[in-house]
Order: sequence, then structure tokens, then C-alpha cells
Amino acid sequence: MFEPSEEQAALIGAAREFCRATLPPGDLKEDDERERFRVDVIRALGEQGLCGIPTPEAYGGLGLGYLEYAMVLEEIAAVSASAAVSVAVTGLPQVILVGYGTEAQKTRWLPGLASGALLGAFALSEPESGSDAASLKTVAVRDGDRYRLTGTKFWITHGGYADVYVVMARTGGPGPKGVSAFLLPGDAPGLSFGKKEEKMGLRASPTVEIVLDDCTIPVDNLIGGEGMGFRVAMSALDSGRITIGATSVGLSRAALTYATGYATQRKQFETPIIDFQGVGFLLADMACRTEAARLLVHKAAWLRDNQRDYAQAAAMAKVVATDAAMAVATDAVQVLGGYGYTREHPVERYMRDAKVMQIVEGTNQIQRVVIARHLKHGAGLP
Ligand code: CAA
Repeated sequence: MFEPSEEQAALIGAAREFCRATLPPGDLKEDDERERFRVDVIRALGEQGLCGIPTPEAYGGLGLGYLEYAMVLEEIAAVSASAAVSVAVTGLPQVILVGYGTEAQKTRWLPGLASGALLGAFALSEPESGSDAASLKTVAVRDGDRYRLTGTKFWITHGGYADVYVVMARTGGPGPKGVSAFLLPGDAPGLSFGKKEEKMGLRASPTVEIVLDDCTIPVDNLIGGEGMGFRVAMSALDSGRITIGATSVGLSRAALTYATGYATQRKQFETPIIDFQGVGFLLADMACRTEAARLLVHKAAWLRDNQRDYAQAAAMAKVVATDAAMAVATDAVQVLGGYGYTREHPVERYMRDAKVMQIVEGTNQIQRVVIARHLKHGAGLP
């Protein structure tokens, strides 16, 4: 666990090489400035097998674990956090289908999603339902052999681009037990797209409102039975929190590497600034945070891969890794001084990208709710 195996090292090396070649710094800067989503890059990552790492080989994935998935996401995020988030989000419908899908649903969607030929999305949040996910208002009404879905979903990564959305909608009474999960094809009648958010960071990743206006889908698109939707969503988020943690480790690493390089070259008072304790200690703390975050992410992934309880560990990894990314990226800006505050260097982008990691897939306050509930029920440390 502390050293990648030969196979893991080869996978990491291939992902690193591919991302560096496909996403040069100039393109990343332009993607950020223009809010340009590089769907071609995500498809290319898929062709390398990197969009379906934990999906079983029988359904077109690599059939590896979350540990390998976390290692690869770290590599992608060290180049582009937006690309890593895309890989993680297109992974959510996959983990849901693997866990809860029927054979027909798996066969229909998994090979395309795992190969990057299709793009997936996850639609839980609504304008008035964020942290309180069980209060969602989108309804799904059964009408013979179809469901009719009506409502609005907010903050949807890949909105307008996805070939398939997993949508949580209410089929029963209030609260979590009234929620069901559905597969909604991107071309379903009644599906349209509202505003695209203008975000502070992660600007190369599209975040879009989706509108369901009497959107009609076959009953076969129900996932896991009526009333199972909240469980489906929560368990997907447990896995997703590992991927956001891994993405944040990649961001931290990129910020640390850049700041270290700068501090080694940059001289003031005829001395490389890394040799001033004020800067050297800042970099040392950044390194400690990055390494500690990586270990927690890998531990959560290992627990998942070994069929242990991992929800608490995933929440801990998400909190620590995303808070670390925010702190490390902010300190990287500090190390570069005035230069760090300009767009000439990527560290200001890392700082903007890091902020959203503390918010997505459950705010860090919600992660603490999850951890505290586990403690209350006697779970102790994972
Ligand atoms: N796995 C399986 N089942 C779970 C579960 C889990 N991790 N967590 C809860 N459940 C089950 C419970 O067992 C319970 O079922 P029973 O009644 O049968 O026991 C049921 O779900 C309800 O659980 P709670 O009482 O704990 O529900 P709650 O309303 O108190 O909510 C919460 C708990 C942790 C606060 C939850 O609402 C939550 O995680 N909120 C944050 C939502 C979130 O992360 N949103 C992010 C959206 S996606 C995104 O960010 C963007 C993107 O592009 C991907």
C-alpha cells in the first residue's frame, strides 16, 4: 500500500504521460479562461481505459480497485482538476449500475461509459435541496409502462453533454424512503438545459441546470426498485468522496511541485527563497499535508477494495484532502508572491479549483455530520 506495485506504477506512468501530452499548460489556461469543456480529452482518456478503472472487465472496464482509481485520478488532477472531475463524475453512473443495475441496464450503458464513448452524469441536487438531499422535489409518476419526471436539477456536471443521467426523483412520500433513481438518456423527450453556471474555478468542467418537463422514460429505467433511490445516491457518494479526495491530492501535488520549483529558482537577497525558513517551512507543511491526505485517500480506497465499511473513511479522506488542497494551493500563491496572484502562473487556478472540492459531493460540513454519526454509533476510527 505504501509503494505502488509494478502494474500500478505502469498505470500511473501511462496516465501521467498521456495527460501531460494531451493537456499542455497553454491549453489548460485557455480552457479555464474560456470555460471550454474538452469532451474530446475525456473520450481520449476513456480510450486509454481510464474512464472505467473499477468497472468489471465483463462490462468494458479495467476491473481494478479504487486504489488504482485514486492513483490515476491523482495523476490526471495533477495536470487538470477539471478533467479528473469529469472522469470521477462519469464514474458515478457506473458505480451505481455495477451495484444496483439490472443485467440489461449494465449491458446497455456500462461498456460505453467505461470506454469514454458515452458520458455520464449524476443528478441529485436541486435549487432548494443541497445538503438536505432527502428533501428533493422532482417527481416521477408511473403511467403504465413509463415514468413521467418533472422538476429541476441544479449543479449538474456534464449537463447538456451527458449521454445518460442518473436522476433521483420522488415516487413516494416525503423523506428518503420516497426517493427513487432513474436512468435518463440525454435525448429523452422533455429534457432541456437551463443556465450554465459561471464558476470561480473548475471552469473547464460544465455545471448546468437541467429541466425535466414531463420527461418520459420506460419503467425499465428504474434503478434498484422504487424507494431505493436515496440509498443508491448515498452509496454512490461514499465512493465519489474517495475520487474527490484523490483529485484534491493531485491538485495539492501540482501546487506543491510548482511552488517548490519556483522557490528553488527565485533568488532574493542573493539567496534561493526556499533557503529562507519562512518559505522552506511553508513548503514543508504543504508537503506534509499532501502526503497525509494521500494516505487517508488510499486507506479509504483500500477499505472499499477489501469489502470493509468505508463510508466514514471516505468522508474523512474527503475532508482532509480537500482542506489540504485549499491550504496548499493558497500557500503556493503565497510562495510566488505577486507572481502567484497573476494568470502568468497556474497556482491561482489551483487555488480557485481547490475551493470547490470542499463543497462538491457533500460539503465538508456534511462530511463531518457523517463522521460524527459513525462515532455516535460506536464506529471509532476506520
Ligand atoms: N449508504 C447507504 N445507505 C445510506 C447511506 C449510505 N452512505 N447514508 C444513509 N443511508 C440510508 C440510511 O440507512 C437510511 O435508511 P433507513 O431509514 O432504511 O435506515 C436513509 O438512507 C436515510 O439516511 P439518513 O437518515 O442518514 O438521511 P438524512 O436525511 O439525515 O441525510 C446526509 C444524511 C448525510 C446529510 C445526506 O443527506 C447527505 O449526504 N447530504 C449531502 C448530499 C450531497 O453529498 N450532495 C452532493 C451532490 S453531487 C455533487 O456534488 C456534484 C456532482 O456533480 C457529482
